[in-house]
This record gives sequence, structure tokens and C-alpha cells, in this order.
Amino acid sequence: MRELGADYSPRSRILDLGCGAGYFLYINKLLGHEILGLDLDDLPMFRELTELLQIPRTIARIEAFQPLPKFDRKFDIITAYLICFNNHKSDKLWGPAEWDYFLSDAAGHLARNGRLWLELNREYDGSYYTPELKAFFEQRGAELQSFRVIFNPGTLVPSEVAPVGR
Ligand SMILES: C[S@@+](CC[C@H](N)C(=O)[O-])C[C@H]1O[C@@H](n2cnc3c(N)ncnc32)[C@H](O)[C@@H]1O
Repeated sequence: MRELGADYSPRSRILDLGCGAGYFLYINKLLGHEILGLDLDDLPMFRELTELLQIPRTIARIEAFQPLPKFDRKFDIITAYLICFNNHKSDKLWGPAEWDYFLSDAAGHLARNGRLWLELNREYDGSYYTPELKAFFEQRGAELQSFRVIFNPGTLVPSEVAPVGR
């Protein structure tokens, strides 16, 4: 949260994808930010903790080539930590095409000067992304910091400008 700058930034609208227990959003709420989580409703522990912490959640499943739900606002920051929605550790792990769709869709939910901050999980081979996916993220304008894939304001280039070979 500190590395994101959320501790000193003006009031921001933050959407956290796969928000889990909601502790990241809880701290942001205490700091005065307007928060929303998105998650599955599979685990009672996450349901109960988000209720306890009073974290508003949209229940939805992020899927390849499917848009995110409609929201009633744009977001200044969209985050996702320890990402699993990319079919992490499976033979359906997202590649450039799936990420391209997701990024274009997510870009439509960002306010002007909005940021997208993604943190990937390690795959079985210990990597966070294949060389092909790394090149794709860079081509899309991401700043890569190991497991972090960060799109700073204005860097999420629309897919028409940065096509990937499909
Ligand atoms: C490893 S947990 C990380 C939770 C939280 N972001 C954190 O850092 O503690 C992954 C989260 O992603 C959610 N998740 C997994 N697959 C998802 C999907 N397809 N769509 C939405 N959320 C998903 C899980 O329910 C869980 O809350």
C-alpha cells in the first residue's frame, strides 16, 4: 500500500480484484479512500472477514475473454494481489491473448490518470511469466518489477495500438 502511494495520495476510488480477506482495502478505507472489492464467494472465511471489516464486495468470477462486471464509477486505482484469476498453476494459464483482453477491458474502468497494479503468483517452474508474456506486458506499456506488472497513468496503451499476434 505504501509502495502504491496510497498512504499519502488524495482520496481515491480503489478496486481490488480478488480481494480475499479484504485487509488491503480495509487499510485504504481507514485512510479515507473509497473502496470496492471483487471476489468469488467460495470461501466462508473471506466472506466473514470482509463482512467483519465492512468491505463492500462485488461477487464475480473473472474469466478469460469475459468483461468485468459493470461498475457505477471509474477507478483511480485497480489492484490485484497474488493473482489466481489467470488460471494460475493450471494448463489454462493465461497467455498474451487473455491478458490483452483483460487489460483492454480493465482500461475502460479506469478514470483519467488511473493506474492498474497487478501482482502475479509464482508458477510451478518458479517464474511469474514466460518470456513471451513478459515481452507482451512491456509492449503494452507495463513497468515490470519481478512479480509486479504496473501500468502507470497513461501507459495502458489501447490494444488497437499494440496488437498481439493472435
Ligand atoms: C491468493 S488469494 C489473494 C487474496 C488477496 N488478494 C491477498 O493478496 O491476500 C486469490 C484471490 O483471488 C480470488 N479469485 C480466484 N480466482 C478468481 C476469479 N476467477 N475471479 C475473481 N476472483 C478470483 C480468490 O477467491 C482469492 O480471494
